[in-house]
Amino acid sequence: MKKKILSLTIAIAFTAPAMAQQAVEVLHWWTAGGEAAALGVLKGNLEKEGIKWNDMPVAGGGGEQAMTAVRARVTSGNPPAAVQMLGFDIQDWAKQGVLADMNDLANKEGWDKTVPLALQKFSKFNGKWVAAPVNVHSTNWVWANKAVLEKAGVKAEPKTWDDFIAALDKVQKAGFIGLAQGGQPWQETTMFDGVVLSAGGLDFYKKAFIDLDQKALNSPTMIKAFDRMSQLRKYADKDFSGRDWNVAAGMVISGKAGFQIMGDWAKGEFIAAKKVPGKDFLCFRVPGTQGIVSFNADQFAMFKVGADKVAAQTKLASAILNPGFQSAFNVVKGSAPARTDVSDAAFDDCGKKAIKDLAEANKNNTLVGSMAQGHTVPASIKNAFYDVVTRHFNGQIDSKKAAAELAAAAKG
Ligand code: GAL
Repeated sequence: MKKKILSLTIAIAFTAPAMAQQAVEVLHWWTAGGEAAALGVLKGNLEKEGIKWNDMPVAGGGGEQAMTAVRARVTSGNPPAAVQMLGFDIQDWAKQGVLADMNDLANKEGWDKTVPLALQKFSKFNGKWVAAPVNVHSTNWVWANKAVLEKAGVKAEPKTWDDFIAALDKVQKAGFIGLAQGGQPWQETTMFDGVVLSAGGLDFYKKAFIDLDQKALNSPTMIKAFDRMSQLRKYADKDFSGRDWNVAAGMVISGKAGFQIMGDWAKGEFIAAKKVPGKDFLCFRVPGTQGIVSFNADQFAMFKVGADKVAAQTKLASAILNPGFQSAFNVVKGSAPARTDVSDAAFDDCGKKAIKDLAEANKNNTLVGSMAQGHTVPASIKNAFYDVVTRHFNGQIDSKKAAAELAAAAKG
């Protein structure tokens, strides 16, 4: 018996350091209900592979606070193995030379064949995979409480901007909050994505937010977009300032409000609240943007780490691109998979629509990066746009001045 205990003790002694090395630290901002539930799928999968998950949540929708935390960690020379990141932020970190080369894994698993080129543009730097894409969210969505719309006499999904305003009006007149709004710059600008697309169309949006064309930014069309933001402002309640996006989603879920314009991470909250599309809520594209998808892909940027952490980091990246995970995670998160070869069988009607819209937009060249979510310009310009949009939404500048200030911000 003693011999057995001795050999067991020696075995544990030899494997303990190896087990201790199989840990991965992940920095992210997924702290809301639906987000945390989705992330739980990844944590569980990794733990099944013997990888301990060291969680580094940094609350704050849209990830602004998370990016501040990353800068501190990298400056101190101690980056997490992986960080949730969006679009141009990945490219900016890659330029600093601090992201790991994941090409061995990517080539072995064929990521180039299954991940849409629109995402690869951000996942790769100088031909090397530096991030593992988790999903494809999009921002030009409206979420509506079905019972509220019925009580307010809104008979059908509004297809045009004027129909939408008329529906908001009916909901407000029926005693509900028309638009559930979170009063934070990133949320107001996320709404602005769809409003600009509805006011000016896809080519105008690209000219303004990708080409940073001065004539497009400071134009009657952009003024019209800001006028539409002013229209929407009338349907928010008086306490919207500072409200988190998931609290706003909760107002539609509970039937306090009729509509929310938000990325489809909001759908994760409806799922977490056990709501059913078509029965409890409706999901539709911002009226006037049907056929267009303004996307933002969550990716885990892989930072260069010590040799003892590479194995666990590689397992994390592989777990993220795993087709089974891509289905299970995105069903809960409200997004479409980052791989094009994942069936929509497990997704509900809104999830199926997200996947179908994405595939069609990819094919029809009507897929465009979300400006608000860091997929058209670097953070410095995006944040300057946030500032203009939020001051306009809060009535500090009028539409004409806002358009002029957007153009000036783009020059910066
Ligand atoms: C976005 C992110 C989503 C969700 C949202 C709210 O930037 O892509 O996954 O986290 O912020 O925080």
